[in-house]
Amino acid sequence: MNILVVGGGGREHAICLALKKSPRVEKLFCASGNGGISQIAECLPIIATDVEGVTRFALENAVDYVVVASDDPLALGMVDVLEDAGIRAFGPRQNAAIIESSKAFAKALMKKYGIPTARYETFAIIEDALRYIDENGAPTVVKADGLALGKGAVVAETADEARAAVRAMMEDMKFGDSGARVIIEEYMTGREVTVLAFVDGETVVPMLSSHDHKRIFDGDRGANTGGMGAVCPSPRYTPELERLCMDTIFLPTVAAMRAEGRPFKGVLYFELMLTPDGPKVIEYNARFGDPEAQAVLPLLNSDLLDIMEAVTDGRLAELDIRWRPGATCCVVMASGGYPAGYEKGKMIAGLDGVSPDITVYHAGTKLRDGAYYTNGGRVLGVTAVGETLDAAIESAYSGVRGISWEGAYYRTDIGRI
Ligand code: AMP
Ligand code: GLY
Repeated sequence: MNILVVGGGGREHAICLALKKSPRVEKLFCASGNGGISQIAECLPIIATDVEGVTRFALENAVDYVVVASDDPLALGMVDVLEDAGIRAFGPRQNAAIIESSKAFAKALMKKYGIPTARYETFAIIEDALRYIDENGAPTVVKADGLALGKGAVVAETADEARAAVRAMMEDMKFGDSGARVIIEEYMTGREVTVLAFVDGETVVPMLSSHDHKRIFDGDRGANTGGMGAVCPSPRYTPELERLCMDTIFLPTVAAMRAEGRPFKGVLYFELMLTPDGPKVIEYNARFGDPEAQAVLPLLNSDLLDIMEAVTDGRLAELDIRWRPGATCCVVMASGGYPAGYEKGKMIAGLDGVSPDITVYHAGTKLRDGAYYTNGGRVLGVTAVGETLDAAIESAYSGVRGISWEGAYYRTDIGRI
């Protein structure tokens, strides 16, 4: 089969590598990919949000299946357009991708169907939001309604910080239209766990659990990023929690989407907080996580293409999805300055010397004249598999220490806290 993966970060590199293992994959394309992906797929000069461009390419190049891996094209309805053009595609249709692209929708869904989450209010008028903060104080959490590269949530310790976040989103339009509406929600406490699940509209098959580290600095301090590293499985997630989450969160969410006439097909990402009152949903995403995919997929022992097609065809219940024992750790290496401003174009040294049992997923890289250069905020995801989590962490960091460029930054405590 000829497959086209849409996206160009570390997650897409991990998906491409997993698909490449399938004996049924003949030709692999990626729109638009990155330096690392260009070694295993033909990278196309089509950006991930170019719905028409992707569809045209697929029609003209005998693409059998398109895997829409990143959030923006899903929110734009790329799967709908592809399917309407007769091309099979992996990912939710637009009316289901809204579970990620509108937090107001997701929160209302959870409220309606009794799925545990933080209490909240939605605001479209800035004065109402500011008044709510005056009345309810802090700590509290302010979130932009729409997509914001994982940076649209502000955990405010003080009412002043909360007001500043509302002004930045609703007045200064820091996240563009995504901040036209904001959610203000109850501040929850607890450890976080991510569960990605394959969903075919009806059947839910959770993958191994993981957790990522969103803050930029060690000790979970500093600004939120897209994710600075992840481990799999998460030691925080017990079999008892797994059963509880299945019954109170995973199955009810998928049933709720069906009941709303928005059947979800694809990867549903449950971001959970293990609060003193039990697990609650922080948010949903409509796709694999980044860097969670880089931590979870290396342990998948089944054919990813088989699973994806079963999702698309509603046959997930027939599959027996297998995982390898052991654990993984993915450490993200970022450009100095990320998640604020950073420079691009730094030559990356040491990639050739990385031990073969470590996988370096490329996120923001560019290949030029045989050398890799930085080309984004998150640059690489260095992933190791180990018999234990400790072994995986140790091994991932030994890989990280051999790679360098001017200003390279990474956290030193991924999986340790
Ligand atoms: P989100 O963009 O919704 O994934 O939120 C980003 C991060 O903000 C999460 O990973 C949490 O660490 C934190 N967060 C979000 N919502 C809450 C909440 N209601 N209470 C406490 N922390 C939160
Ligand atoms: N790691 C967070 C995300 O993919 O949204």
